[in-house]
Amino acid sequence: ARPPRVLSGIQPTADSFHLGNYLGAVRNWVAMQDDVDAFYCVVDLHAITAGHEPAELRRRTRVSAAQLLALGLDPERCTLFVQSQVPEHAQLAWVLSCITGFGEASRMVQFKDKSQKQGADRSSVGLFTYPILQAADILLYQADQVPVGEDQRQHLELTRDLAQRFNNTFGPAFTVPAPYIVKDTAKITDLQDPTAKMSKSSSSPAGIIDLLDEPARSAKKIRSAVTDAGREILFDTENKPGVSNLLTIYAALSGHTIDELLEQYDGKGYGDLKKDLAEVVTAFVTPIRERTRLYLDDPAQLDKMLAVGADKARAVAAQTLAQAYDRVGF
Ligand code: ADP
Ligand code: NA
Repeated sequence: ARPPRVLSGIQPTADSFHLGNYLGAVRNWVAMQDDVDAFYCVVDLHAITAGHEPAELRRRTRVSAAQLLALGLDPERCTLFVQSQVPEHAQLAWVLSCITGFGEASRMVQFKDKSQKQGADRSSVGLFTYPILQAADILLYQADQVPVGEDQRQHLELTRDLAQRFNNTFGPAFTVPAPYIVKDTAKITDLQDPTAKMSKSSSSPAGIIDLLDEPARSAKKIRSAVTDAGREILFDTENKPGVSNLLTIYAALSGHTIDELLEQYDGKGYGDLKKDLAEVVTAFVTPIRERTRLYLDDPAQLDKMLAVGADKARAVAAQTLAQAYDRVGF
C-alpha cells in the first residue's frame, strides 16, 4: 500500500520561525518525512490576506524555506515548495469558492476573530475566503491526512464538506482528508508571560526564542524567563506555568522525559534549571542558525531546490485540477 499523503503549510509572516513553531509543528513535519508522502508548503498566498509589504514577503518566504531545510526537511524525502509557484492553488480555490455557501463561509470563527480585530472595512475578502484557499491546498494533493491543531479544526471540516459536495455534485475528484491528531507536539508559552502562547505577535521580544537570534541572546532569554512563586521545580502548568514551560522545552530538545528531568532537578533551584536549559537551547539553535545562513548565502541553489519542489508539487496538482475542471464542464 502507498504511504498516506499528508499536506501541511506554514505562513511566511515573520522574519524567523520561533521555538514554538518548531516544537509545535515543524519538528513533527521532520519526523513524518519517512513514514508518509509529505507535501510541505510555504503558504505565501495566505500571507497576503492581511496586508503585506512585497520586499518583506519575498525575504520572509526565502527565510522560511531556508529555515525549514535547516530544521531538517529533506527534499529527497518530502516535497517542499512555495505555494505561489503552483498556480493550481488559486485556480482550484476559485472553483471551490463557487460551491461554498456565503453563510457557510461566514461561520468561520477565525475570520470573525481576525476581522473583529482589524475592523470590517479593513478586512479583505481574501481573509474571508482564506479557508477555501486552504481547502484547495489540501484537495489538490489528494491528501489522506492533515495535521491539525484545535484552531484549524473548523477549516478542515469545511475542506471535508467541500470535497464531499464536489464529489457528489460533479463526480469523484477529491480524496476526503482526515484530521491527523499529532502526538508529541509541545505547546510552548511566552517566556515573559507564561500564561500566553509563544507567538510572533508577543508583546515582548524577550518572550520568544527566534531561531535566527544570536545564540547568546537566546541563552539570555532563557536565563531571564519569568518563573513562578516558590522555589521547587515541579511540573504544574496551572500553578507553575513558567517552570513547566522551561521543563517542556528542555524535555523536547533533550529527549528526556519530564519525569527524568524532575528527578534530575530534585532539590535544585530555578537558577540551575535555567542555566542548563540555556546551554541546551544554545546547542540547538547554533547549528540551525548556521545552516539557515548557508542556504540564504546561496540564493541560486535555494531557488533551484524550490523550483524542483514546485515541479514535483505541480505534477500532482495539475492532474487534480485537470480532473476537477473536466468534472465542472471546462
Ligand atoms: P504564531 O502564533 O507565532 O503567529 P503561527 O500561527 O504562524 O504562529 O503558527 C505556525 C505553526 O506553529 C502552527 O502549526 C502553530 O500551531 C505552531 N505554533 C505557533 N506557536 C506555537 C507555540 N507557542 N507552541 C506550539 N506550537 C506553536
Ligand atoms: Na516521504
